[in-house]
Amino acid sequence: MALPTNVRIVEVGPRDGLQNEPGDIISTAVKVELIDRLVDAGLSYVESASFVSPKWVPQMGDASAVMAGINRKPDVVYAALTPNMKGLEGAIAANADEVAVFSASSEAFTQKNINCSIKESLERFVPIIEAAKAENIRVRGYVSTVMGCPYQGDMDPAQVAAVSREMLDMGCYEISLGDTIGVGTPLKAKKMLEAVAREIPVEKLAAHFHDTYGQALANLYAVVEEGVAVIDTSVAGLGGCPYAKGASGNVATEDVLYMLNGLGIKTGIDLDKLVATSHWITGQLGRNNGSKVALAIGCEA
Ligand code: HMG
Ligand code: MG
Repeated sequence: MALPTNVRIVEVGPRDGLQNEPGDIISTAVKVELIDRLVDAGLSYVESASFVSPKWVPQMGDASAVMAGINRKPDVVYAALTPNMKGLEGAIAANADEVAVFSASSEAFTQKNINCSIKESLERFVPIIEAAKAENIRVRGYVSTVMGCPYQGDMDPAQVAAVSREMLDMGCYEISLGDTIGVGTPLKAKKMLEAVAREIPVEKLAAHFHDTYGQALANLYAVVEEGVAVIDTSVAGLGGCPYAKGASGNVATEDVLYMLNGLGIKTGIDLDKLVATSHWITGQLGRNNGSKVALAIGCEA
């Protein structure tokens, strides 16, 4: 299949990136400035907050304040994660443009992450999706652990496909396939995608790959070759999942952009501005930059 001419980048750094930062709670002002800077760099979809229990994920406890503080720009989607009805109510009150529900192909991970079975999680999503639709809010669906689970090991691609299909049928407009702990390799990514694409048109799929083993770019190239044109990324490679021990951040937005630029695939994002934002946020957090491209280009961008 020919490579796509455009790829939509879903920036998840302010959510997936920051949710797992150790140490002090990051200030609302820093979160808001990060989102505004990312949009200024050309990101048109930013997962900005997470309306989960602050007992489970303390770094996301100020979701409403973050959403209220953003300098909203037209034509930009400011999205939020919502595990249950309480989360959806928070997201609606905060004027989120879109929300995302999340389950997994692994039973054990689902229990650890959202304290219920896969079946229960899917049942929980039905009224959430209905209520969101009544407010004209689109719902994205995440399926985690698509290439491996920290508790159960290898995943059957048929199980990934089945959960994805169910979430699509229930009304999610897109399914984001999460390699939550970044254990995939290109052939595995292709086989997983082929299994899911037998159930779901590839136009409705996104790739959400963490970079724990340094395979995310290769895995992305493998699925972009198969027609995937939506990629989730995190500026500076921030993050990880608090309920997947050892998982590192998502693939860095800068690294994906550099690769796509080299392939002649358009995204609408300004690499220099993005790199400047990447150095700014790692400075604010006092942590190393997880993007090779940002490190190569340096701080003066
Ligand atoms: P639970 O303990 O079963 O829920 O947790 P509960 O309904 O019994 O409520 C317990 C307490 O939490 C109550 O408070 C609720 O009010 C409160 P209390 O009465 O004890 O004071 N509560 C909430 N507060 C604020 N917002 C809410 C909310 N819901 C309940 N929405 C629950 C179930 C789902 C809430 C919990 O397990 C949870 O919040 N889990 C979130 C875990 C999480 O955020 N994980 C990271 C995101 S997923 C991810 O990173 C993967 C992804 O990136 C894709 C990939 O990489 O694969 C998306
Ligand atoms: Mg993730």
